[in-house]
Order: sequence, then structure tokens, then C-alpha cells
Amino acid sequence: MKSTASAPAKVILFGEHFVVYDIKSILCAIDKRVKVTSTTTDEKKIFIKSSMGQILWDLSNPKQEIKSSFKPFAHIAKKLIDEFNHEGGLEITINSDIPSGVGLGSSSACCVAVAGSVSGLFTKYPKEKILELAIQGEQTVFENVSGADTTVSTFGGIIEYDKKTGYKKLDVDTDFHLIIANSKQTHSTHKIVSKVNEFKKNNSEVFLSLCKKESELVEQVKKSLAKKDLQSLGENMKTNQEYLETIGISNDKLRLMLSVANKTSFGAKITGAGGGGCIIALTDEVNMENTIKDLQNNNFDCFSAKIDTRGLDTF
Ligand code: MEV
Repeated sequence: MKSTASAPAKVILFGEHFVVYDIKSILCAIDKRVKVTSTTTDEKKIFIKSSMGQILWDLSNPKQEIKSSFKPFAHIAKKLIDEFNHEGGLEITINSDIPSGVGLGSSSACCVAVAGSVSGLFTKYPKEKILELAIQGEQTVFENVSGADTTVSTFGGIIEYDKKTGYKKLDVDTDFHLIIANSKQTHSTHKIVSKVNEFKKNNSEVFLSLCKKESELVEQVKKSLAKKDLQSLGENMKTNQEYLETIGISNDKLRLMLSVANKTSFGAKITGAGGGGCIIALTDEVNMENTIKDLQNNNFDCFSAKIDTRGLDTF
């Protein structure tokens, strides 16, 4: 038996890090995807492969520890094997065009696609149930994960997300283009989130005040989105970037990229965990080419992203 699923990458438009502390965030799924194909096998083993490597988990050895970036995927697969009393094992193949470790949600999209693909071998789960499995997978490496990335990858489009109350789709009818520039500095989300937690412990009042400001900013952003006011949205992005600078997730290269992007776009900010990774710049048809050209002239790798409205696809 064979089952395939695919899920999109994401950008966080507003609210990364603060979302971990129950502040509302705004995210957008983008048109880069990971595709996962699963087949059932006779041997009690889980075999996972991608262009980044492979792992073999012998399920008859309960002591085997999975020390690999594939751990969340193996966990999801094992959970489904147990849930459906599958006697044999699984072979899982991952094909991704999402750059990994740079804040575009590659691991989260993979968790969603693995949960969609493996569950599809046994049943047709609703997206909510697949999301639940994907979050459980992510929690095997990062207990305090907000669930924002997996949620937008599952449902697609632009969403507002609150760790406590979940997500709401935003009906945004604005013709904007996002330029994504990659610093090529990879990061561990888990480590950067821990660093922010240290900042919070050492600067509790500053952090609390930033949470309040971020929360107000997100409300402002929703108004700017409803009014299709790209100028204000760009300013909102620059303001969000100031908060991200304060919590210490920026660096010299990112600041340089942002200053280049800010010259022609409506506004730019880090997206995702930071400490490297990507920045996003907000443009429209008119200034898009100039922003791309300026970033490329400064030797920064960049591309323009479209919104993915599909989210998880199973077939
Ligand atoms: C990572 O893409 C986003 C963070 O806010 C972590 C999370 O939401 O779990 C940094």
C-alpha cells in the first residue's frame, strides 16, 4: 500500500517568539512544498530517507534511540503504526524544495506531510487530527513549540494563530508580494527559542512590555490588512523587527540584508526563529523587481513567494 501527501513552507509575518508566550501571531503559507510518500512493508522497521540522509528504526529493539533530525517523523510514524495495530513496518520517502534550517518551516511542513501520508495508509483523518499528530512529532525535539508553523502548513493561506485558542483564517484580498532573502546561516529553532527564554528570565519587565506591544501591533496589522494598506503594513514590519532586535535574535548579516531591503520595499523583518535564516520584505508589483535586484546586487540569495492557499494535500 502507498500513500502520498504534501505540505507547504511558511513565513511568520508577525509575532515569532512572542507566540511561544501566548501572544497572537500572523502567518502565511508559501508556494514551496515537501512531498512525502509512505509504503507499508513486512518487516517491523521504519525506514526514512531524504536528500539529507536516512534512518532505519528497528521496532523490535525498544532501546534504540533516534538521534537524528528525522526523530519527529519517526515518532509520528510509530504512533500511527501502534494506533492501527499495523504488524509490519514503513518506508517513508521525503522530497522537499523547502530550504531547511532557515526559518521557512521545513521541519514543520515535513511533520504535517508525514502525518498526512502515513495516516493515509490506514484511514482518512481530518486535517485537525493530522495537525495534532504533527505537533506531537515536533514536541519530541522542542516541548514548548507554539504549533503556529504546523498549523499554517496544514490549513494554508494567511492565519492568525494563538497558542491557547488556535487559528483563524484571515480573508486577505491584498495584492502583495513577499521577497524572501536567505542569509544561508542555518540555525536550530530550539536553541534560539531557549536563548529568548534566557532573555525573558533576565529582563522580565522588558519582555513583558514587548509582549504587550507585539499584541497591540498584531491588532494594528489586522486593520492594515483589512484596509489593504501596504505602506502601514511595511511600517508594522519594521516595528516588529525592532522588538526582534531587542530580544537578541538578529545579527550583522541580517541587519545588512534588512537595510538593503528596506530601501525599496515597504518594510522588512526577520521571519522565523532568527539568529540567521531568512528575512522577508513586503512589496507590490511596482517595487518588487527593484528589491530583488538590490538584494541580488549585494550577493544575497532571494526569491519572490506566492501565498499557498491549499495547505496539506493528500493523494
Ligand atoms: C519558529 O518558526 C517560530 C518560533 O516562534 C517558535 C514557535 O513558534 O514555536 C520561533
